Amino acid sequence: TDSTRALLLSRIRDVPDYPKQGVLFKDITPLLADPTAFAALTDTLAELCVRHGATKVVGLEARGFILAAPVAVRAGLGFVPVRKAGKLPGATLGQAYDLEYGTAEIEIHAEDLSGDDRIMVIDDVLATGGTAEASLELIRRAGAEVAGVAVLMELGFLPGRARLEQGLRGAPLEVLLTV
Ligand code: PRP
Ligand code: MG
Repeated sequence: TDSTRALLLSRIRDVPDYPKQGVLFKDITPLLADPTAFAALTDTLAELCVRHGATKVVGLEARGFILAAPVAVRAGLGFVPVRKAGKLPGATLGQAYDLEYGTAEIEIHAEDLSGDDRIMVIDDVLATGGTAEASLELIRRAGAEVAGVAVLMELGFLPGRARLEQGLRGAPLEVLLTV
């Protein structure tokens, strides 16, 4: 609802010049510290998981973990982490993606997803879309279906939505706040 969105927006702190000059960082820690706001966010994302028929929730390290784990519990679904390369001990699938300078890689335990799974990907921010796009590749390569991507915030001045469109293949992108 609009009142939930207003509450969430009111708990996001703008930090100028972080992590570098000229960048306005959107800090979610005040939202996490407010139990009413954090619960409202969790409930909203859990409803989206149910609405889109998700069977599991994938959270993107690190900030996506904080949101996705309580959502999975609230929705009665399993949680599967997508981690930065080198952190998962089992058999992994890896996917590289572009950063502003250079590349990064994320990984998943493929055995945690099955062909019957429909996955909702949860993260805090959609910026360039590189992280989310790479996670969709991993999910499909692991043999699962994509139920959608849900983020708290979309940075509306960046082309993340356009970049993600192809990878979504018609699955929904749910954005609670465009900032
Ligand atoms: C941030 C943010 C998203 C991602 C969005 O994560 O939490 O996951 O960038 O950017 P993109 O759309 O351009 O890929 P980051 O990897 O900076 O750090 P984190 O470990 O704190 O989540
Ligand atoms: Mg992140």
